[in-house]
Amino acid sequence: MIIMLWRARSRMEHNFDEIVSRKGTNCLKHDFAAEHGKSANVLPLWVADMDFKSPEPVVKALLAAVEHGVFGYPGVKEEYFAVLRDWFAADFGFEIKPGWLVRSPGVVFALNTAVRAFTRPGEAVMIQTPVYPPFFKCVTANERRLVDSELLCLNGRYAIDFDDFEKKMAENRVKLFILCSPHNPVGRVWRPDELRELGRICLKYGCLVVADEIHCDFAHAGRKHHIFPLAGPGLADIAIVCLAPSKTFNIAGLQVANIVIPNAALKAAFEGETRRAGCGELNCLGLVAGTAAYREGRPWLLELKRYLAGNFELLRNFLAENLPLVRLTEPEGTFMAWLDFRALGLNQEELNDLIVGRAGLWLNDGASFGRAGRGFQRMNLASPRQVIQQALTRLAAAIN
Ligand SMILES: Cc1ncc(COP(=O)(O)O)c(C=O)c1O
Repeated sequence: MIIMLWRARSRMEHNFDEIVSRKGTNCLKHDFAAEHGKSANVLPLWVADMDFKSPEPVVKALLAAVEHGVFGYPGVKEEYFAVLRDWFAADFGFEIKPGWLVRSPGVVFALNTAVRAFTRPGEAVMIQTPVYPPFFKCVTANERRLVDSELLCLNGRYAIDFDDFEKKMAENRVKLFILCSPHNPVGRVWRPDELRELGRICLKYGCLVVADEIHCDFAHAGRKHHIFPLAGPGLADIAIVCLAPSKTFNIAGLQVANIVIPNAALKAAFEGETRRAGCGELNCLGLVAGTAAYREGRPWLLELKRYLAGNFELLRNFLAENLPLVRLTEPEGTFMAWLDFRALGLNQEELNDLIVGRAGLWLNDGASFGRAGRGFQRMNLASPRQVIQQALTRLAAAIN
């Protein structure tokens, strides 16, 4: 009986150790080294997708849809909304009402849309660097004024400089703040009191908040992600919450995002801008994948998170034993590690030469996340452990 149960259980488990070759699949992470000026044998641990297969129920649902063979325009039925609502109610106590949801092909599309919908050219938009580069690009590309309240890095841990945040918001009459929660790349999972204080300041100065919560399902053990509008009174009225199954279930290429806007006037303005961009319907296969993922993907996600914790553990131990000068920023969320190389005393060019030229690794250059990222590199840990081990061995050989 015990053996039968064990067999049934082990059959259910996903093999995250499996090396799935992504070469030759138009894969941004693996197939474009030459286009990025890198050698073909560089080990890619950069862009934030995973080298793991999606949950089996997702793959099965997609196979059935492909088998059907007709790929016309989709519409979104109650079924998709129901699984989405159940997921966010169960995990975060976030009760999404039917009228709050706007569909979007991606979160970056939504960031750009929000900037155009809620600000005019020349008006100020606030971000907190180091941060995911589209946060500043969506501001500058739309000819708005970028205001940066850099995060504080205190003894390997990041914090918000609330005085600086409030001062800059007041001085620049900031209209929109783009929050990254959990924060990519520094890995903070913001506490409710931090979110509340940000919200209090935004309410005081009449500033709207785009809360990019795409990494919400990746709070590490012992941490809890808090949905921004639930952090304090009045915040639902000023929030545009960006959610998506793309990071969680590794379906970024299928382009499905869920933008949740409780305030009806803001939602109408956002939808108007979406319409003006001529875009806003979901990919038919993305819809199939997203529905299956929210409905049946949880066991896979739980296993994935245990596996990622093992990768972080490997990284932490390896650095302690072999590369004590390279510091891992204490990770609280996301599947990215934010590594501080400043103790090596290299300038950014020398650091990149070390990582790419000598170690043969393709990470994200910390400087691409803003000035505050100089001396850092972002390493994506969502790969089989063997690959992470290989990357660390290469890094140690290059540095030592
Ligand atoms: C904070 C953050 N927002 C958005 C995205 C991308 O979202 P999408 O692919 O839906 O445009 C990423 C991808 O790495 C991200 O880290």
